[in-house]
Amino acid sequence: MASMSYVSLVLMITFLINSCMVALGGNFYQDFNVTWGDGWGKILNNGELLTLSLDKTSGSGFQSKNEYLFCKIDMQLKLVPGNSAGTVTTYYLSSQGPTHDEIDFEFLGNLSGDPYILHTNVFSQGKGNREQQFYLWFDPTADFHTYTILWNPQRIIFFVDGTPIREFKNPESVGVAYPKNQPMKIYSSLWNADDWATRGGLVKTDWSQAPFTASYKNFNSLTTAGNNNSWLNEELDSTSQERLKWVQKNYMIYNYCSDVKRFPQGFPPECGINKAA
Ligand SMILES: *[C@@H]1O[C@H](CO)[C@@H](O)[C@H](O)[C@H]1NC(C)=O
Ligand SMILES: *[C@@H]1O[C@H](CO)[C@@H](O)[C@H](O)[C@H]1NC(C)=O
Ligand SMILES: *[C@@H]1O[C@H](CO)[C@@H](O)[C@H](O)[C@H]1NC(C)=O
Repeated sequence: MASMSYVSLVLMITFLINSCMVALGGNFYQDFNVTWGDGWGKILNNGELLTLSLDKTSGSGFQSKNEYLFCKIDMQLKLVPGNSAGTVTTYYLSSQGPTHDEIDFEFLGNLSGDPYILHTNVFSQGKGNREQQFYLWFDPTADFHTYTILWNPQRIIFFVDGTPIREFKNPESVGVAYPKNQPMKIYSSLWNADDWATRGGLVKTDWSQAPFTASYKNFNSLTTAGNNNSWLNEELDSTSQERLKWVQKNYMIYNYCSDVKRFPQGFPPECGINKAA
C-alpha cells in the first residue's frame, strides 16, 4: 500500500509539473494567428508547436493577437536545417505605419555546414539602419534555442539562450528617438531572400530541397499586465556585461557603429552610448 501511494504521489507531481510547463510555454492557438502562406504555417500538438514552411509557391508567417507596449518575450526556434541558403527566418516586434518602430531578429540561412548569420536591427519612428550581425556559438538547426527580446523604457536587449548579444540603450539624451509610444505585435515569417541573404546574394535557394521548415515552441511573454514587473527596470549586471563583451568580441561580424565607410562624417549619435562597457 505504501508503495502504491508513493507511485500515485509521483504521478500527481509529474502531472502538476507538466501542467505548469504547458501553462508557462503558452499556446499558439491562444496567442497567434497564422496570417500568411495558405497551409504552409501549421499549429500542432494542441498548440504547443508551430511550424512555418517555404517552397517555390509561397513562404508563411504568423503574428500575435496581442499588442505590447514594452514586454519581455521568449521564443524557442529551431531553424531550417541542411541547405538553407537563400532562406530568411524572421522573428520581430513591429508597430504599424510609415513611422513605425521595430525590433528585429533575422536568421539568414546558408549551405549545409556553413554558418547562419543572426541579423539584428532597431527602428524608431521609421528609421532603422542600425544593423548588428553575429555568428552563433552552436548549430541553430540541430535543436531549439531561446531567443529573447527585452524592451523596456530604458533599453532593448537581445538575448540568445539567456546570453545578451546586443544592447540598445534609450538614446533620447543624445537627441535620437526611442520606441516608447507605439504598441507592437510579434511577427514571424519564413521567406525566400536569395537576392541578398546568403553571401550577399551569391548563393541561391536550392528548390530541390524544398519545403524548408522552421519550428517554434515555448512562447512566453512578460507584459505590463503581469504581476512581476521587475523586467521593466531590468539591466545588465556585471556578469551579463562580461557575456555581452564575449559575444561581441568573438561572434559579432558586423556593427554599423564601426562601419567607417558607411559613416565617413561620423557615427550616428546613439553609437556613443551603446559601446560595450
Ligand atoms: C486572429 O484570429 C482571431 C480568431 O482566433 C480573429 O478574430 C482575428 O480577426 C484574427 N486576426 C487576424 C489579424 O487575422
Ligand atoms: C555563409 O557561409 C559563408 C562561408 O563560410 C560565410 O562567409 C557567410 O557569412 C555565411 N552566412 C551567410 C548568411 O551568408
Ligand atoms: C520577478 O522576476 C524576476 C525575474 O524576471 C525574478 O528574479 C524575481 O524573483 C521575481 N520576483 C518575484 C516576487 O516573483
